[in-house]
Amino acid sequence: MSDRLVEVRDVSVVFHKKALFKKTRSVEAVKSVSFGIDRGETLGLVGESGSGKSTTGRAVLKLVPVASGDITVGGQNLTDLNGRALRKARRRMQMVFQDPYSSLDPSATVAASISEPLMVHDHVSARAARARALELIELVGLRASHADRYPYEFSGGQRQRIAIARAIALNPDFIVCDEAVSALDVSTQNQVINLLERLRTEFDLAYLFIAHDLAIVRHISHRVAVMYLGRIVESGPAERVYNEPAHPYTQALLSAIPNPSPHRRADRRIVLAGEVPDPARPPSGCPFRTRCAFAMDICAERMPEHTAINGGGEVACHLQTSGPELSGAPLGDLTAAAIRRA
Ligand SMILES: Nc1ncnc2c1ncn2[C@@H]1O[C@H](COP(=O)(O)OP(=O)(O)O)[C@@H](O)[C@H]1O
Ligand code: SF4
Ligand SMILES: [Mg+2]
Repeated sequence: MSDRLVEVRDVSVVFHKKALFKKTRSVEAVKSVSFGIDRGETLGLVGESGSGKSTTGRAVLKLVPVASGDITVGGQNLTDLNGRALRKARRRMQMVFQDPYSSLDPSATVAASISEPLMVHDHVSARAARARALELIELVGLRASHADRYPYEFSGGQRQRIAIARAIALNPDFIVCDEAVSALDVSTQNQVINLLERLRTEFDLAYLFIAHDLAIVRHISHRVAVMYLGRIVESGPAERVYNEPAHPYTQALLSAIPNPSPHRRADRRIVLAGEVPDPARPPSGCPFRTRCAFAMDICAERMPEHTAINGGGEVACHLQTSGPELSGAPLGDLTAAAIRRA
């Protein structure tokens, strides 16, 4: 039975940018985004840079103003929470960033960084907080003898382990990992992902695992959501999304990964043509239509609705409902048709 921890419904985030002598520009960075994450589950969130992944992650923690929609975590609706009540709710939620320096004070020792949230939020004595910090340091695969070193004395992977130790210090239920392993080399990425997996099982943690690189997300995610220009265009069980991607954007992203799946032929590579449109002036209808090899008239006229697909999940693409010769076609046929048209 599913044990839903995070429920995000129709959430939008709008940024208003004011430039000197220019009109204020409004960017809807996140548009009507909905997803759920169960306890102990990892949802991967992927998409090119600027697609709204970080803003989505921050919105769930209410670190950016949410223009509309509802966010519920652990049965508590965060939408109208502010001040103390919000801070209290946030204790159960943490964030790990690409650059650990954004959460680790470079002038504080590792033990001090990890102890700080315990002393501030749990009012634990300095002595007890240090003892717990030493346990956490060992839990993330470092040595207790490292406790009095400074962040710069560690490698990138070790620093990320320290950031993770700090994030789990308050026993959260939910962690947003925003490009948490993206800056690391592949073997270190795998080690940190293994650590996150171990902690997830041990503490029944739920992750929103954000990365622009689909290859990274695959092995850690139970389900995957793909974002484009602020919208989720496809979501579903990781196996289905990787083996049978339904949205042309997902297909293009996956075709750029060398040998993404042993079940897929290696000769299909769709080059993602053109630039991501200006998020302040998105195209009418389907946001992907300016780069889509399958674009039809209806794509400029109407935003495609989310439709359930075989194998699990949803896709927002008119091909599901309006592409007579392509609708329901397996990936191989779709891709061959795209290549013929290109
Ligand atoms: N604090 C902000 N103020 C104004 N615009 C922002 C801010 N943060 C993000 N944006 C804009 O929102 C869009 C989505 O950004 P972001 O969520 O960082 O994407 P991603 O994490 O997928 O790269 C971009 O167009 C970005 O310029
Ligand atoms: S709705 Fe149309 S433009 Fe958008 S992805 Fe589907 S086919 Fe391409
Ligand atoms: Mg980002």
